[in-house]
Amino acid sequence: MENRPQWGTRAGFILAAVGSAVGLGNIWRFPGVAYENGGGAFFLPYLFALLTAGIPLLILEFTVGHKYRGSAPFSFFKMKKGAEWLGWWQLAISFVISTYYAVIIAWAMSYGYFSVGKQWGEDPLTFLVGDYLKVVDPGQVGSLVPGVFFPLIIVWIITLGILYKGVKKGIEVANKIFIPALVVLFFIIVVRALTLEGAIDGVNAFFKPDWSQITNGKVWVAAYGQIFFSLSIAFAIMITYSSYLPKKSDITNNAFITGFANSSFELLAGIGVFAALGFMAMQQGLPIDEVVSKGVILAFAVFPQIINELPAFSGAFGVLFFVCLTLAGLSSLISIVETYIAGVQEKFKVSRTKAVAIGGGLSALISILYATQGGLNFLDTVDAFINNYGVAFAGLVEIIIIAWVAKELNNLQDHANAISDIRLGSWWIICLKFITPVVLGVMLVMNVLTDIE
Ligand code: PFF
Ligand code: NA
Repeated sequence: MENRPQWGTRAGFILAAVGSAVGLGNIWRFPGVAYENGGGAFFLPYLFALLTAGIPLLILEFTVGHKYRGSAPFSFFKMKKGAEWLGWWQLAISFVISTYYAVIIAWAMSYGYFSVGKQWGEDPLTFLVGDYLKVVDPGQVGSLVPGVFFPLIIVWIITLGILYKGVKKGIEVANKIFIPALVVLFFIIVVRALTLEGAIDGVNAFFKPDWSQITNGKVWVAAYGQIFFSLSIAFAIMITYSSYLPKKSDITNNAFITGFANSSFELLAGIGVFAALGFMAMQQGLPIDEVVSKGVILAFAVFPQIINELPAFSGAFGVLFFVCLTLAGLSSLISIVETYIAGVQEKFKVSRTKAVAIGGGLSALISILYATQGGLNFLDTVDAFINNYGVAFAGLVEIIIIAWVAKELNNLQDHANAISDIRLGSWWIICLKFITPVVLGVMLVMNVLTDIE
């Protein structure tokens, strides 16, 4: 047990945790979710969810991993016999997410490539669903789409190659390169977007508060969903990563840094994406509302349009943007695959190499399903299900088991306080034991009710 791998440095762990958190969810998901749920007014439920659920849960998961020093199933088992299934369930969710998350990264990769030659032409949407994803041909549902399949193979070779190298030489090194590069490149993108004509209109549209939305339960649902997904909470990831911390590590401070870094990146992405949308709206003489579209598919159609309209260096802008998506996505994919590699390794007592080959190989194979002509609809369905039920439910069950069944909150608080600079007060217990379960419970019931309607 004591030859458990460890992070080499504190910065290595923080960069890996930030790398997991900052992902496609920040760049693609957040701007649209915020806009649809009240714009500037969305920040109120968002901040509430971040402070009462996101960061407290992040501290909780960091502490669980650090204290029990195991993959999620093993950590829960050590906390309470009979709770091991919770870890396996989280790993199962991670497994499912990883199979389609990889495909979106593959799209980003090939769109980076297309940015150079602008193969998408004048009408990127038609290109996307026609030539690229070929979702228009019902007779060919099962056949592979080469433009998705080949980059997907590259995504898996990179991801599994890094995981094969291990925690310190693989995951830590990769994040130490990916994350600083991502921050610098993304900054360039945002500055460029902000200096475009019409950018300010876009940013204003993003921040314009629609306060009538604030009493809408769905907006709160969206805020919690975004925070959980974005912080990689309740998928066993942060437990796994913190299980590689040295004994003497600050927990609470690291959680705050991770949480605020993720939200800052989200805000930056919102500003950058909306600045670019404002530019496009002005170029095409359309109202901004019409330009803002939702969903994974449309996102891959809108940015090419913006790139088409750019006055100069449009290819470079496109490459940079899609490289950012790729880097952000890869560092998250690595973290999510690591959760089940660690679980398989511990449960079946196999080497890391074997666990990578079996666990990673299986998810890579399954992900190929989404690289087929029928794959896109499949991806949309699975993603919607995971977001509506997987995230909320996994978080709620985790809290109930830890706080109410195992009654571990006070012990975990002591554990974190013994090694952290920031002392956890009773606010932490109150948030986790009462506020979050109540809000999450209501959220789930509401999702079920709206689905029944
Ligand atoms: N936190 C990542 C994001 O915001 O894109 C995505 C993510 C990674 C979600 C891993 C869930 C996960 F398990
Ligand atoms: Na995120």
